[in-house]
Amino acid sequence: MKKIVVDAPASSANLGAGFDVFSLGLSNPRDTVELSASGFGEMRIRTSYAQNGADAGPEERAVRAVAEKIAIEFGIHGTIEASITSRIPIGVGLGSSAASSIAAAVAMNSLFGLGLDERGLMKFAVEGEFAASGSRHYDNLAGSLKGGFVIVNGDSLEITRFTPPEGMAIVISTPMLKLPGKKTQYARSLIPGHVDIGKLTRNVFLASTVVAGFAKGDIDVIGKGLDDSVVEPARKVMIPWFDEVKEAAIKAGASGACISGAGPSILAIVDSLKSNPENVMVSMVESFSTHGIIANSFITTAGEGTSVVKGP
Ligand code: HSE
Repeated sequence: MKKIVVDAPASSANLGAGFDVFSLGLSNPRDTVELSASGFGEMRIRTSYAQNGADAGPEERAVRAVAEKIAIEFGIHGTIEASITSRIPIGVGLGSSAASSIAAAVAMNSLFGLGLDERGLMKFAVEGEFAASGSRHYDNLAGSLKGGFVIVNGDSLEITRFTPPEGMAIVISTPMLKLPGKKTQYARSLIPGHVDIGKLTRNVFLASTVVAGFAKGDIDVIGKGLDDSVVEPARKVMIPWFDEVKEAAIKAGASGACISGAGPSILAIVDSLKSNPENVMVSMVESFSTHGIIANSFITTAGEGTSVVKGP
């Protein structure tokens, strides 16, 4: 029996105006996918899941979809067993389905020696993203695969990666809200079909500012770019008191804040050499709590991408 263990990090997509293009791979939390292959004959895929009673559905669907697609394409037979250890909260804008999907693609690639390059991995992993979230977007996958700050071209699947500046802390605050089912699809349905040229111009400026900030290694410049005239205004109806919480984060010392992916988590970027991320986190939690909303929060950094932990 051949066995492999791969882990992949959470990610925060969009970073303001970089809808479906930008993403940040986080140090933690990380999901682990263990695959084992045995026997010959008809292909069978079994998945199991370890997380305290949470709904396993989306991540299992993701891993199964990726393993199945790859097995069919490469004529792989026998039984593939997948075990998923999920630490990334599901459906809150932290790329849980992308982490499971890219981990499954990397695991299949290594287990069967398929020689897939980054583009090939992304092409199969997006089928997991689609099975779990109902949409084929590549930003979370790229952030999870590569870690750091990434820019992904959704047509060519080329990824440009930047190592984030030293001292850049990330605060994530997730309000406990009752969200519509198929949250990502719902959040995407809120986005306007047409964009006013003035808003487009501002978004080009904002996205360029984020890239310039990473290129210069300047956390304040990155923070100034963390805004959006198109997607965030349309989606913030999903997150009560979003503007107040964002303002509280900035007042407490964050360089900028935005919706994390399709939400409802909010991401704040903090230069930990100048401000205390702990203060930012507390201010965000208190701001939600003033309005009767409980928020789960943590502090992390940008981190390394997907890695093979063990085997084959
Ligand atoms: N770019 C995607 C979106 C990320 O905002 O819909 C979803 O996690």
